[in-house]
Amino acid sequence: MAKESGKAFDFKLFKRLLAFTNAYRGTFYFVAFAAIAMSGLAVLSPHLLRLAIDNAMFNRDLPLLQYYLMLMLGVLVLEVFFQLSFIYYANWLGQNVIKDIRVKLFKLMTSFKMKYFDKSAVGRLTTRAVNDIETISSIFSQGLFMIISDLLKMLTIAGVMLYMSWRLSLIVFAILPLIIYATRVFQRAMKVAFEEVRNQVANLNSFVQERITGMKIVQIFTREETEYKRFIDINQKHKKAWVKTVWYNSIFFPIAEMASSIAIGLIVWYGGLNAAEGGVITLGIVTAFIQYSQMLFRPLRQIADKFNTLQMGMVAANRVFGILDTKSHISNEGEKVLTDAKGAIAFENVRFGYNEKEEVIKDISFKVYPGETIAIVGATGAGKSTIINLLNRFYEINSGTIKVDRVDIKEYTLASLRSQIAVVLQDVFLFADTILNNITLNDTNISEEEVIEAAKAIGVHKFITSLPNGYHYNVKERGSMLSSGQRQLIAFLRAYVSNPSILILDEATSSVDSYSEEMIQAATDKITQGRTSIVIAHRLATIKKADKILVMDAGKIVESGTHLELLERPDGYYKNLYEVQFMTEEAI
Ligand SMILES: Nc1ncnc2c1ncn2[C@@H]1O[C@H](COP(=O)(O)OP(=O)(O)O)[C@@H](O)[C@H]1O
Ligand SMILES: [Mg+2]
Repeated sequence: MAKESGKAFDFKLFKRLLAFTNAYRGTFYFVAFAAIAMSGLAVLSPHLLRLAIDNAMFNRDLPLLQYYLMLMLGVLVLEVFFQLSFIYYANWLGQNVIKDIRVKLFKLMTSFKMKYFDKSAVGRLTTRAVNDIETISSIFSQGLFMIISDLLKMLTIAGVMLYMSWRLSLIVFAILPLIIYATRVFQRAMKVAFEEVRNQVANLNSFVQERITGMKIVQIFTREETEYKRFIDINQKHKKAWVKTVWYNSIFFPIAEMASSIAIGLIVWYGGLNAAEGGVITLGIVTAFIQYSQMLFRPLRQIADKFNTLQMGMVAANRVFGILDTKSHISNEGEKVLTDAKGAIAFENVRFGYNEKEEVIKDISFKVYPGETIAIVGATGAGKSTIINLLNRFYEINSGTIKVDRVDIKEYTLASLRSQIAVVLQDVFLFADTILNNITLNDTNISEEEVIEAAKAIGVHKFITSLPNGYHYNVKERGSMLSSGQRQLIAFLRAYVSNPSILILDEATSSVDSYSEEMIQAATDKITQGRTSIVIAHRLATIKKADKILVMDAGKIVESGTHLELLERPDGYYKNLYEVQFMTEEAI
């Protein structure tokens, strides 16, 4: 990940961000133009007011006065027009840019290898993809153009003021340092205060989120009162942090108002005196100056804020680009397209570890012939599930070869390889969607009829139709409305409709109720029929039916053979396992 930029303004980063506006070039130029036009127009109306007072009112020239009024009205209309379109299109641009960045980021993330996700916290990635990108939009909507517009406006105003009366200008400029100083002090204080607010908000969020997810624990151990008290405490801190920002605001704004009032007072005092003595300063100039000084001070107070916004956006952009620059893909250089695989699998001296230090698969070799079902058994952590990860190329092996249909799997395109393999994982993941969509995974080539047909074939149709809404039952977050056995059945169906050449099942270790168990067994029989299957088996029924059993221990295959063959080995690992684990199961 790229280092966070400490610079106030990172030009390279900025250029890269601007590249995202290329698709909206017309809008970009229009917004820039509107910003410039706004600053020009803003300067015009006080000037027209001055002319109206000095030239028309004092000379009692009604037509001229009407003329100026019309001009002022015209300026106002233009101002409204540019302001309106500026706000709309600057935000429109920001939203379009972040939409593009977000889509790009998501697409990239879907191709990252599993190792990347092992190392990155889900919360952080989500924050990058959602919140950080949101912050980027403010560069366009509030930061960049606003700053340019404000700076331009201030420069023009200062110029016009100097041109109108350098004496009065000097008086107004004399107040500037006071405002700038006050603004800086305020900004620094606010920065610290907001840091604290953000921390407290994060605390509050994670507290509430955790208690809601873990509400069962809270209630089982009757911790309601304790948690309630802790929550009061956290809330107190949160409130305190906010009140501090309110306090700073309530000091700063009156002070800023006061400074600008002082400036106006001085303008009236000096200008009035000069005008009364018949000097060069006219009433029109004094009026214009009052307006100009306010127009000068207001953006000054906000400009630091806008710089902050810009900076925050840039920091966010830097983080997001950090992910966009991540090169973490499984190499996809194979060109062979695997279709209608026969399903021969061979592991040849495969070695693998999730990290360098620890080898999880230690020199494993085995063969599965087309149509065979093999069972892998072994203790937790032996490396059974890892075998699946390797066959799918979720991880790159360290050495050895894995072949499907006698060809190294690296020579196939990733997509074609994976399309031939269906996996039912140990923990079934369901999206917060209907059962139907969870089965087809939104593949429109699979019709509802086909799904129902498949469900009948593996014997789960009745179970699904017994749910409210049947196939259109929404399973909510992570499928929490279903039991683990029911989730597994859905996963079976998901695998079955994809009609894979190779099927892999990672049986759930947790016991399921006997009704689901029966259905799962029937489904397993049906779905493994006539196709190459690897079953990481915990149920004796599955193991017994397998053509071959591989017994794994600590990353090695320690025994292999059929159920009966393995039982014949005196002191065999499998025999031992069988006696400890399954004899009781069989007795029931
Ligand atoms: N994503 C991962 N990152 C790092 N280590 C892992 C990961 N997944 C599994 N392991 C480790 O690899 C070993 C084998 O795990 P696994 O194949 O899941 O075992 P099994 O399925 O036989 O219970 C274990 O020691 C486990 O801690
Ligand atoms: Mg496992």
